[in-house]
Amino acid sequence: MHTTPPAHHSELDTTCHHIASQLASQGWCVTGDFLAADIVRDIREYAQHAWRTGAFRQAGIGQGKLEVQPDIRSDQVLWLEPAQCDGAVAAYFAALECLRQTINRELYLGLFDYEAHLAIYAPGSFYKKHLDQFRGSNLRTVTTTFYLNADWQPQHGGQLRLYTHSEDPARQLDVLPAAGTLVTFLSGEYYHEVLPATRERLSLTGWFRRREMASTV
Ligand code: OGA
Ligand code: MN
Repeated sequence: MHTTPPAHHSELDTTCHHIASQLASQGWCVTGDFLAADIVRDIREYAQHAWRTGAFRQAGIGQGKLEVQPDIRSDQVLWLEPAQCDGAVAAYFAALECLRQTINRELYLGLFDYEAHLAIYAPGSFYKKHLDQFRGSNLRTVTTTFYLNADWQPQHGGQLRLYTHSEDPARQLDVLPAAGTLVTFLSGEYYHEVLPATRERLSLTGWFRRREMASTV
C-alpha cells in the first residue's frame, strides 16, 4: 500500500504561524483545508472502519469517573493513542505537533502534550453549550476540532457554534463541519456547542495541555 505523503512543510509552517497569531490576537481561529483532501479522506475511512467494528463508546462528561449524560452530549467517541497511530492519522498528529511547537514558540503557553478522540454524532445528536476545561483544572489550554465530512451543506446542520465574545453571548460564529476545516480556540475562554445534524457527523477533537496549572484562569 502506498503511504500518504506528509503535507508540504513550508505551507504547514505558514498555516501554523497563522493559527498561533490568531490565537494571540483574538483567541480562536478557523482554518479551511488544513490538510490535503486525500489525508482527510483516509482519516474519515479509518473512523468509519473503527465505527463498524464497534470501537466507539458513548461519550462522558468530566474527568476521572466519566458520567454519561445523553441530555448534555449524545455523541460516541474513540480515544486515539498518538504514539500508536500510523498512516493518515499519524500525519494529522505530525501536523498538530508542528502547531504545538509553533504556539509554544510564539505564545509561550508551555503546551506539552495532546489528547484526542474521534467523535461520531448520529443524526439528531448534539453537545450542549460548554467549556472544555474540567472544574478546578486549567490543564487543557488549546482546543482543536478537525472535521471529516465530505459534501457538508448548511442544511445538514451540525454546526459548531462558537461564542466568540465571552462578555456578549449574542456574538456567535457557526462553523460547518466540512472536511478539512480545523477550529482552534483557547479552551478556558470560549463556550461552544454542537448543533444537531441530519447526517452522521465525524470530527477529530483534541486538547493541548499544560504540565502544571496556570496560576490564573
Ligand atoms: C468536544 C466538542 C466539538 C465538535 O468534544 O468537546 O466540543 O465540533 N466537540 O465536535
Ligand atoms: Mn467542547
